[in-house]
Amino acid sequence: MILVTGGAGFIGANFILDWLAAGNEPVVNLDKLTYAGNLENLRPLQGDARHIFVQADIGDRERVETLLREHRPRAVINFAAESHVDRSIHGPGEFIQTNVVGTFNLLEAVRAHWSQLPADEQAAFRFLHVSTDEVYGSLGPADPAFSETTAYAPNSPYSASKAASDHLVRAYHHTYGLPVLTTNCSNNYGPLQFPEKLIPLIIHNALAGKPLPVYGDGSNVRDWLYVGDHCSAIRRVLEAGRVGDVYNIGGCNEKTNLVVVSTLCAMLDVLHPDSPVIPHGSLIAFVKDRPGHDQRYAIDARKIERELGWTPSETFESGIKKTVAWYLDHQDWVAHVTSGEYRNWVSTNYAGNMT
Ligand code: NAD
Ligand code: DAU
Repeated sequence: MILVTGGAGFIGANFILDWLAAGNEPVVNLDKLTYAGNLENLRPLQGDARHIFVQADIGDRERVETLLREHRPRAVINFAAESHVDRSIHGPGEFIQTNVVGTFNLLEAVRAHWSQLPADEQAAFRFLHVSTDEVYGSLGPADPAFSETTAYAPNSPYSASKAASDHLVRAYHHTYGLPVLTTNCSNNYGPLQFPEKLIPLIIHNALAGKPLPVYGDGSNVRDWLYVGDHCSAIRRVLEAGRVGDVYNIGGCNEKTNLVVVSTLCAMLDVLHPDSPVIPHGSLIAFVKDRPGHDQRYAIDARKIERELGWTPSETFESGIKKTVAWYLDHQDWVAHVTSGEYRNWVSTNYAGNMT
């Protein structure tokens, strides 16, 4: 079996659903259930003995060690993190706690377990750390895309905390021989993404006739990857990645935020003509920029393609169609996650922000 951390969040839940759809190897899912963790994401697995959910913190070393002893997974895949850049600006403490201290404690628990496994199990074991392209900093318009050898230059508390965790993972391989793999992926989108992130936030606001907040002038560029493609890349790296190596994952879909938002508006004009405000594009509101906003991310994914034969299946056009359709079909899911805490967040982040 495998142990997944953060499996009640956006990418972790997609990963577990895909994993169990493709095979029968059981998953232990360790998740703290922060505001971003939602067991409803895993509802299709209710009553499925192949999915064992444990509510716990990756920073709880004893608990993790006990779980590892009990289940003896062949791999740990670490998705658990605080993941939203804007939240890291408002409150960096949680990011240091989970992403840095939590990852350190998780690594310590895994090292203690791994070091007393028999040699054959030790050799087969993997710790796969899921990280981000944001550790590489910000690109200018003509800069080459981030490769695995691009120097780290994180600019937000979120990306700095992820960079620190990547360094710890690297150090545990070099110092203790822990068989690690690290992936650095670009912006994901797709079903089950919490509507604090750009794409689901825009869909949610557009359907409600609320302003669509675009930071600055909307010229910042992100490289979008459909979440199912990220999950297939992780499965491939776990299967065949070279121990100690880093793999960049991306979709070759660079778009400005304004293009993404306008695309969503145009799609919703057709698919949801009875929204309170039509055309949806008339709701676009340019708001105060994110402090330290990285201008451009782009991933050079040639290594994973060359060495592991992975390429994405979805284009932006096909992936965004599936995504919009999913949100339109799952308004009950959106309603459940946009209560209480979500409303507080929206009033904190966007208060007085409209220009
Ligand atoms: P998310 O915020 O949707 O989910 C995070 C999950 O981790 C939640 O279920 C939460 O409850 C859990 N969690 C948080 N703190 C925890 C702790 N201390 N112990 C145990 N569980 C905890 O995040 P996501 O978008 O699914 O991202 C997953 C991972 O992928 C993160 O490590 C993130 O840095 C990385 N990543 C995300 C993207 C993206 O575009 N979303 C891109 C590249 C990499
Ligand atoms: O690049 C990978 C990263 O992508 C992941 O590591 C992060 O976990 C994930 O959250 C994401 O970070 P971003 O900051 O790029 O994603 P977000 O959806 O928050 O924002 C995407 C772009 O849209 C960014 O340039 C900021 C902008 N934006 C975002 C929001 C929430 C807006 O213009 N308005 C908004 O309201």
